[in-house]
Amino acid sequence: MTVTVTGAGGQIGYALLFRLASGQLLGPNTPINLRLLEIPQGLAAAEGTALELADCAFPLLASTTITDDLTRAFDGVNVALLVGSRPRAAGMERADLLAANGRIFGPQGAAINAGAASDVRVLVVGNPANTNALIARSHAPDVPADRFTAMTRLDHNRAVAQLSEHLAVPVGDIDGVSIWGNHSASQYPDVFNATVRLESGGRRVVRDLVDERWLTEHFIPRVAQRGSEIIAVRGASSAASAAGAALDHVHDWVNGTGTGPGEWTSAAVVSDGSYGVPEGLISSFPVRSVAGAWTIEQGLTVGDFSRSRIDASVAELLAERDAVAALGLLAAE
Ligand code: NAI
Repeated sequence: MTVTVTGAGGQIGYALLFRLASGQLLGPNTPINLRLLEIPQGLAAAEGTALELADCAFPLLASTTITDDLTRAFDGVNVALLVGSRPRAAGMERADLLAANGRIFGPQGAAINAGAASDVRVLVVGNPANTNALIARSHAPDVPADRFTAMTRLDHNRAVAQLSEHLAVPVGDIDGVSIWGNHSASQYPDVFNATVRLESGGRRVVRDLVDERWLTEHFIPRVAQRGSEIIAVRGASSAASAAGAALDHVHDWVNGTGTGPGEWTSAAVVSDGSYGVPEGLISSFPVRSVAGAWTIEQGLTVGDFSRSRIDASVAELLAERDAVAALGLLAAE
């Protein structure tokens, strides 16, 4: 399998590549050809990482290529992890950020369209991830739309971890958490369909164990703003947890999620109109991977509390879509 990582010289790249090459992305039986894409000023860092990758003597790592050339990076790619992006600089307006990233993700989408393997799967990590994925997808008309996804698995994992701590239960005993909408502060972490395993063997509904005040004043804002909390405490943005979530996302996409009640996860995928999210938007949903493709979990209860929060995050996604369309960053359909 050929796996391309963009922004490979950055901090997520450094946290991601070793675990990926050790087999945590695709499993222990799949040799990997790695392509590391960087901009010219990031090449030296990527080369340094590649030296260390060699020194790990990973049995599964068949080759490592470092390049700043899009065609070389995406030729024959099976899994594309689009991590590199333009961070918001001081004084940068939102439109400037969207424009700068549009100029990155449009050409990357076009290069994937031109050269990727027919089974290519794309995960956008670089922010604003949902809209960057939308831009890349619009430049790849020959690739099925459902192969473009954006990462909200970190938000999902954060939500599960917060519940685990609050309820004093192991993370593995919690099911049915969902992240809806944008990977931004407007996202909605939803526990209304979540359950927790009891020692007796049954399950209890999480909503019966937490009060609304905890949800609105603690849980939802803390999950949504966890990235800022990490920056404040660590002095740098999440890297190892973001890398771990990217591995989880692709691993589950390729190998499948559980089929039992509540055994879904969260990912930003192209909306088919489910739950009133406009078709074509790349929005986070509760999803399962079945036969190698993400499917949106149907039939979940969405009450007024959840509806208003999902709608607010989707409204932000629509505004981002309109802004990049106005900047001419979406290829004509
Ligand atoms: P970083 O700044 O350490 O590394 C980014 C790397 O991307 C740099 O080495 C840079 O040279 C490279 N790069 C920039 N433009 C590029 C291009 N056009 N092609 C190839 N490489 C390019 O940043 P870090 O911490 O690794 O984060 C990367 C992105 O991931 C950021 O946008 C960050 O906001 C986002 N992120 C997303 C999360 C999510 O849950 N979706 C979670 C955490 C971070």
